[in-house]
Amino acid sequence: MNQDYIIPNEWSIIEKGFHKENITASESIFSIGNGAMGQRANFEETYSGETFQGSYIGGIYYPDKTRVGWWKNGYPEYFAKVLNAPNWIGINININGNPLDLNKCKVSDFKRELNMKEGVLTRSFNAELTNGDKLKVNAIRFLSLNFNETGAIKYSVTPINFSGEIEFIPYIDAGIVNEDSNYDEYFWEILQFEEEENEAYILSKTFKTEFHVCTGMKVDFTLNNYEINLNKEVEKKEKSIAFKYKTNVNQGDIFTIYKYGGYTQSMNHKIEDLIFTLEKELQKIAIIGFDDLYQKQKDAWQKIWETADITIEGDIKAQQAIRFNIFQLNQTYLGEDSRLNIGPKGFTGEKYGGSTYWDTEAYCIPFYMSTKDKNVAKNLLLYRYNQLDRAIENAEKLGFKDGAALYPMVTMNGEECHNEWEITFEEIHRNGAMIYAIYNYVNYTADYSYIPEYGMEVMIAVARFWQQRATFSKAKDKFVILGVTGPNEYENNVNNNWYTNYLAKWCIDYALENLQILKADYAEDYQRIIAKTKFSEDEFDAMKNVADNMFFPYSKEEDIFLQQDGFLDKELIPVDQLPKSERPINQKWSWDRILRSPYIKQADVLQGIYFFENEFDKNTIKRHFDFYEPLTVHESSLSPCVHSIIASKIGMNDKAYELYLRTARLDLDDYNHEVHEGLHITSMAGTWLSIVQGFGGMRNFNNSLSFDPQIPKEWKSYSFKINYRGATIKMYKNHEGCKFTNESDAPVDIKVHGKNVTISSNELVALHRLESI
Ligand code: BGC
Repeated sequence: MNQDYIIPNEWSIIEKGFHKENITASESIFSIGNGAMGQRANFEETYSGETFQGSYIGGIYYPDKTRVGWWKNGYPEYFAKVLNAPNWIGINININGNPLDLNKCKVSDFKRELNMKEGVLTRSFNAELTNGDKLKVNAIRFLSLNFNETGAIKYSVTPINFSGEIEFIPYIDAGIVNEDSNYDEYFWEILQFEEEENEAYILSKTFKTEFHVCTGMKVDFTLNNYEINLNKEVEKKEKSIAFKYKTNVNQGDIFTIYKYGGYTQSMNHKIEDLIFTLEKELQKIAIIGFDDLYQKQKDAWQKIWETADITIEGDIKAQQAIRFNIFQLNQTYLGEDSRLNIGPKGFTGEKYGGSTYWDTEAYCIPFYMSTKDKNVAKNLLLYRYNQLDRAIENAEKLGFKDGAALYPMVTMNGEECHNEWEITFEEIHRNGAMIYAIYNYVNYTADYSYIPEYGMEVMIAVARFWQQRATFSKAKDKFVILGVTGPNEYENNVNNNWYTNYLAKWCIDYALENLQILKADYAEDYQRIIAKTKFSEDEFDAMKNVADNMFFPYSKEEDIFLQQDGFLDKELIPVDQLPKSERPINQKWSWDRILRSPYIKQADVLQGIYFFENEFDKNTIKRHFDFYEPLTVHESSLSPCVHSIIASKIGMNDKAYELYLRTARLDLDDYNHEVHEGLHITSMAGTWLSIVQGFGGMRNFNNSLSFDPQIPKEWKSYSFKINYRGATIKMYKNHEGCKFTNESDAPVDIKVHGKNVTISSNELVALHRLESI
């Protein structure tokens, strides 16, 4: 473990003491967001030391030209960058003419706290400037869940050993660049400034994509809690606007600025209304006032926690970690807008371009489906449904026809924007995850209507892709899928990746099965879909032929499915025999060496076994885990969670716990030495899965909800809630047994350790002395 400065606490992430070396890591960890926008925990006042400034607005990106030395047909035109948005949080401070800059003064009693229960970030410290002036600062900031285009800051300064002049300089600045911009390229064009009273607005638009954004601020002041009016001086620059307010304060006075700010943007409003709408929003929240707004924020978070919370007794670090994961997932996506999605870094950094990956379908959907209303998961599915035409275009570019679709590996608006040929063209398994997510949703919610209304069209298009992508091997007398990259990106251009072949067959089978259901029970929808997609009986037979005759690489001696053709030719030296100094291999080895090695980045065969666990018996699952896990380096944040869930399933409890810890505190303890780049948001859903499906053993196959609860010996108890088909079920487990509570009006049938249990409305069922670890 590499970083250990976060103080364990049940509900808060706390940092005490000012350590310059932690600044960029803390800027990631203490990030705040409200589903519509988010920002790194940058200081309000100027900071001349190393910092990574970041504020992001959901859906706003820039199509950066792909720069490669050569070109391959079919390459995407651009890489979508999530754009660093104009800064509205800035408040520079001058004390008797000297700037407050924590990089240049003596700092004591520094404390930063991210209160996850309430959704607020606070910071307090004492600073001594070079001339000896000492002051105390308290700052509170949040992005409002109730008014999601806005946020609020309360920033108070108290002179400790002097009386004199304090100047607050709140500003908004659209002169922002991305950390990852090529040659400091600038992405925003300034269109208009507006300023009145204590308010300022800048209207800007992004180059190329022409997203229009209005950034604004409105400020108020109090001295010792009494409102005061101050005259201002305006400082307008080419890309920013600042107001300067000065006043004389006495030693011990509390001088406070309230800054309300935020963005309106053209995805949600007409361009001509952007400034006016933001004015109205900021005026509204300023009238509500900071304290009431804060109370509303607490109430809104309390509502989220009511179902989303997981409690862990007896291990405070584990408790803190799971809440951190749940909190960050909710800061990133709240499910109200089907045009938004969950980027691997959420609103906490620029890496991965803030775009949508298969992470959403494979990892995030179960979390949102179980802890929120089912419409939230449905919105995530609709995001892909609405991009189906683009997925069809994408497949056409690569030579597929007749309405076959290939969903992009990475996207902002449905177009592919990832450009490494071995991933863009070859990591096609992502197409299967789209269908798995539909299956998962329908299976869990019993909302079958999704399939006739939307899902079937996606399934047909994806099944067409698989049918066309498979080729017939005379030598094998089977259909094969050549030249692919599986989830394990440490193997490229392999033939017959077992996971991909399995998923391809499953997608076709599932599509054909549902076509038959629709034909029998939803005749009108069936006719509409057949007409729209021009699906024919011949196509049905051709697809079935591929699915029925798919090739699966298998080793008789080992009795395991092979990750791909020829996998056993590798030198199968387990990871624990690799010197520590050579890991992580993606930082220490050349790419060709990684490709030749047997080392697995993340679950691959095991990803398939995890998805389709009901199709394999326990011994088969264990054999595969025992074979593949020792070769796995877990160098994707998505890896430990799947392994932890499978380890729980096969009774390898210590292993399950070890892998759980790796996923849960990945960012808080910075296992991969990269937290400064941003948080691993999508893998946080995997952490949730490791508890609910891993230790809790929750499964939902064949219309039955079952649990097989176990508890790590390090914990006293844990509990979680899930929304399931209109019921809210709470599971509590300790070393004595487990309890289920049905917090709703309808009875629910579940299975616990294989036994049927009905829990009536508002009833608690306790099952004692069932197996625990
Ligand atoms: C993983 C992919 C994942 C991506 C974004 C990569 O490192 O290998 O499976 O989709 O990160 O999280």
